[in-house]
Amino acid sequence: MKRTRLNLVVDLAAIVLLLGMIATGFILWFPLPPGTETTRTLWGLTRYSWGHVHAWISLALLAVLLVHVALHWKWLVSVVGRRLGHEKMSARQTAVAGLITAVVLLIFASLFALLTFLNVRPLTESQRPGLPVTPGNAGSATTQNTVENPQSETGDEQTPPDTDLATDTIAAVSWSTDVWPILQRRCLRCHGPDRAAGNFRVDREEDFYGGDGGPLIMRGRSDASGLIDIVTGARRLPRPGSHRLAEDAVEVLKNWIDAGAPRVP
Ligand code: HEC
Repeated sequence: MKRTRLNLVVDLAAIVLLLGMIATGFILWFPLPPGTETTRTLWGLTRYSWGHVHAWISLALLAVLLVHVALHWKWLVSVVGRRLGHEKMSARQTAVAGLITAVVLLIFASLFALLTFLNVRPLTESQRPGLPVTPGNAGSATTQNTVENPQSETGDEQTPPDTDLATDTIAAVSWSTDVWPILQRRCLRCHGPDRAAGNFRVDREEDFYGGDGGPLIMRGRSDASGLIDIVTGARRLPRPGSHRLAEDAVEVLKNWIDAGAPRVP
């Protein structure tokens, strides 16, 4: 391809990518604003996925701009060189200037990346998003528990079937600090907004109580809950390695279900 033709193609690509960035930016700003990650889709993609599209387009634009600069490098160096009082820049000097520029940019990019990693801080309890707690959630868990185990009104006498754990351990399980972190870390990437394998999402409460495979949780009965069979390996699913959890994580889920699978705190 002739050089002028190549320049034209590169510039056209830059314009198309720039328009793509504006369009996806518009999508992330207006039709799918922050907070709609789990509630809306546009043309089959959620806000998370559109964010990825936006990021990849911007990377492509960066690459095209770098090519653009590379194509004009000789001209650029001679202009800057003249400003600095070098009338003629040799090919060697041009190459060295390119190398130095690349190294300096790389150093700055690495420093920036390092800074971002060093400055990540955990969210405090009150800032943690977790699952939206709908007004019904808190009540329904306890109500259902009482209906299924009428004698557990006092909460202390009843030992759940098939568990020899004391009831006070069961009461100690918290949704936001014990249960959700397990699901978030181990399940969300395949069963979340980005990819809902088997049309099951751990961030959708109703998916645990209905859906294609029937209910996964029987409140108060971990021994009858499909979720426990899945994470212990008793029920085989594709990718068994991703579905089996360590013993202590299984215990947390069991205790939570035996306590009626409450969602607060
Ligand atoms: C690496 C990806 C991956 C991870 C991580 C993962 N799963 Fe899955 N899961 C799958 C795939 C693939 C299927 C099969 C989907 C299908 O049948 O089409 C599946 C199926 C399921 C199903 C069955 C849906 C149904 O009724 O057919 C449930 C429930 C489930 N997973 C729960 C979990 C839980 C709980 C975790 C976290 C402990 C988890 N998964 C982690 C990939 C994953």
